[in-house]
Amino acid sequence: MAVLKKIRSRWWSQSEESAEPIVEYDSLAAPSSIIEVRYDVRPLTVTQLDECWRLDQRCFVDGEAYSRDTFEYLLTAPESVSYRAVTHGGQMVGFIIGLVEPDHTGHVTTVGVAPEHRRRGLAHRLMQKAEDGFRRRDVRIVRLEVRSINIGAQKLYQNLGYTVTQRLPRYYSNGGDGLLMIKPL
Ligand SMILES: CC(C)(COP(=O)(O)OP(=O)(O)OC[C@H]1O[C@@H](n2cnc3c(N)ncnc32)[C@H](O)[C@@H]1OP(=O)(O)O)[C@@H](O)C(=O)NCCC(=O)NCCS
Repeated sequence: MAVLKKIRSRWWSQSEESAEPIVEYDSLAAPSSIIEVRYDVRPLTVTQLDECWRLDQRCFVDGEAYSRDTFEYLLTAPESVSYRAVTHGGQMVGFIIGLVEPDHTGHVTTVGVAPEHRRRGLAHRLMQKAEDGFRRRDVRIVRLEVRSINIGAQKLYQNLGYTVTQRLPRYYSNGGDGLLMIKPL
């Protein structure tokens, strides 16, 4: 979502939180054969570094996947506000990494959901969880960058109340434009 050089110094710590279950249903299943897929949302820490790095590579197939070093940096930053969605079996299928910036804005650095678990509300839920984490750190404005061609992600953010405030020409390493989106908390 954002390039590493745009990530600044770090100040805040993240406390452990209790797991919060999400129950979703297979919308294509007949009512009599509903399959319950249960997810928990838990804090994401450097303990999950390799699992998160591998999942990111499955999510970002456009050449914008982060390096392992970048994940290590982001997940050890004291002001990281990061969560993962896990299946009942404990497999990580989604993640979000946010940072509280020195100017006290919240910055959603990256969010991804495994392809086979998409459109079940996981990214929406992870975004809400990160916003709650930002609120607890006295953040009042959240910002993020999204590719101008990533319409699905833009819809996700718009549904959550984010609005485009700026176009970022050639923001991405392959030359693609970005959009800056903002939400007051
Ligand atoms: C973008 C991404 C995180 C969305 O994850 P997700 O768990 O499938 O999203 P949700 O199920 O929470 O979607 C919530 C809403 O966002 C919108 N949305 C999400 N993905 C969409 C898509 N591909 N097309 C259109 N709308 C989409 C829809 O309005 C959706 O609600 P609906 O399913 O009831 O219509 C996921 O597709 C992903 O990991 N993509 C690759 C990485 C990426 O682009 N990350 C964002 C970088 S800025």
